[in-house]
Amino acid sequence: MKRILLSLVLLGTSALNITNAAEGNIDAGKTKSAMCAACHGVDGNSLVPMYPSLAGQSASYIAKQLADFKTGMTSGGKSGRVDPIMGGMTMALNEQDMNDLGAYFNAQMAKTAGGETSDIGKKLYFGGDVERGITACIACHSSDAKGMSHAGFPAVGGQSAIYLKSQLEKFRDGARSNDKNAMMQNIAFKLEDADITALVKYMSTIK
Ligand code: HEC
Ligand code: HEC
Repeated sequence: MKRILLSLVLLGTSALNITNAAEGNIDAGKTKSAMCAACHGVDGNSLVPMYPSLAGQSASYIAKQLADFKTGMTSGGKSGRVDPIMGGMTMALNEQDMNDLGAYFNAQMAKTAGGETSDIGKKLYFGGDVERGITACIACHSSDAKGMSHAGFPAVGGQSAIYLKSQLEKFRDGARSNDKNAMMQNIAFKLEDADITALVKYMSTIK
């Protein structure tokens, strides 16, 4: 009996290794990721600050972004997430490809972008600003900045400051509007330039 139970447990964990909640396949994702490596790095740790790192990012978030980029392209920019490079990259991907790519990059070890941190950014990240109605970032992205994948909140820790800044600015001016219920846009438009600078310094240095 014990042996049966043990093999069931082993079977369970090995099944978990190759599939995840979004039912992506890591090995298939690895093969499909060849065309992503030039910009996002072979292991999902980007070497170019304007290209985001994908290593360790939530699989469902990655799959959603890929679908949103494709929608951005097919809708002519009316909905989804609009980016000329990623729009083009996603045109040939189907749902399974997106889930596989999400599973592969999620399974890679994230490296921290590093750089100079900011105490002001840390304070804002943890506490928000009640007077200005800025919700604390930890409410959704969590105190370790790894996000909450089940709720669709991405990891933001260790990501390049330049990329993070570009996204906060895009949410603020509405160029990025693929966030459910405008959750991020409503926060971003309360942020001053100095807030963004401080926040991205702090986030990019979280390990
Ligand atoms: C030529 C460079 C290039 C290539 C190749 C490329 N990407 Fe990207 N990717 C980008 C850029 C630039 C962005 C940021 C777009 C923006 O500002 O919104 C991005 C953003 C993303 C994001 C959103 C990340 C986040 O944190 O929201 C995902 C996911 C992604 N790419 C996946 C892929 C996958 C998977 C492939 C391969 C099939 C790929 N990319 C190929 C340049 C590239
Ligand atoms: C109510 C929940 C919520 C709060 C609070 C919140 N965010 Fe977000 N954030 C989101 C969601 C949801 C997304 C992803 C939207 C999507 O699906 O594309 C996101 C995306 C982001 C991204 C883009 C990540 C990427 O890889 O492209 C950054 C950067 C970010 N948030 C920073 C912040 C900062 C800084 C704060 C605090 C000032 C904050 N967020 C507060 C929900 C939240």
